Amino acid sequence: MNKIINILLLTLIAASALAATGEETYKTTCANCHEKGLAGAPQIGDKKAWGKLIKEGQVPLTADGYKGVRAMPAKGGRPELTVAEFGSAVVFMANQAGANWQDPDEALLKKISARIEKHAQAKK
Ligand code: HEC
Repeated sequence: MNKIINILLLTLIAASALAATGEETYKTTCANCHEKGLAGAPQIGDKKAWGKLIKEGQVPLTADGYKGVRAMPAKGGRPELTVAEFGSAVVFMANQAGANWQDPDEALLKKISARIEKHAQAKK
């Protein structure tokens, strides 16, 4: 029994080590535009710009950003980013502007993915 629990724990640790944290993804990808507010991007820590976005809620904001909004490229221009990684980067930015969001868990990821999927179908 203990062995199984150990294997489960190791798997969990390995999985979380592989996925970049929100801050890492922000620094490697999103900061290119969001650090200085390039091309009208809501700047990191800008409470006014982010306040409006935070009010939209975590699910729509993450889904819309993942698909891309006007000058904001889909997935921040990194096609290999997962919804979870992108979502954590959104959390990191929102929290810098006063939100208190958590990295999306399984249930939230499902809702975000469903919204992304719905929009993808509407476009066809
Ligand atoms: C090439 C520049 C660029 C990069 C890279 C970029 N963004 Fe953006 N982002 C923008 C711009 C420009 C907007 C404003 C779009 C608008 O409202 O017109 C924006 C808006 C957003 C929004 C608000 C979307 C909405 O619903 O209004 C979110 C969330 C967001 N970005 C998240 C991210 C995340 C997370 C990353 C990194 C994974 C990222 N962005 C990388 C340019 C960028």
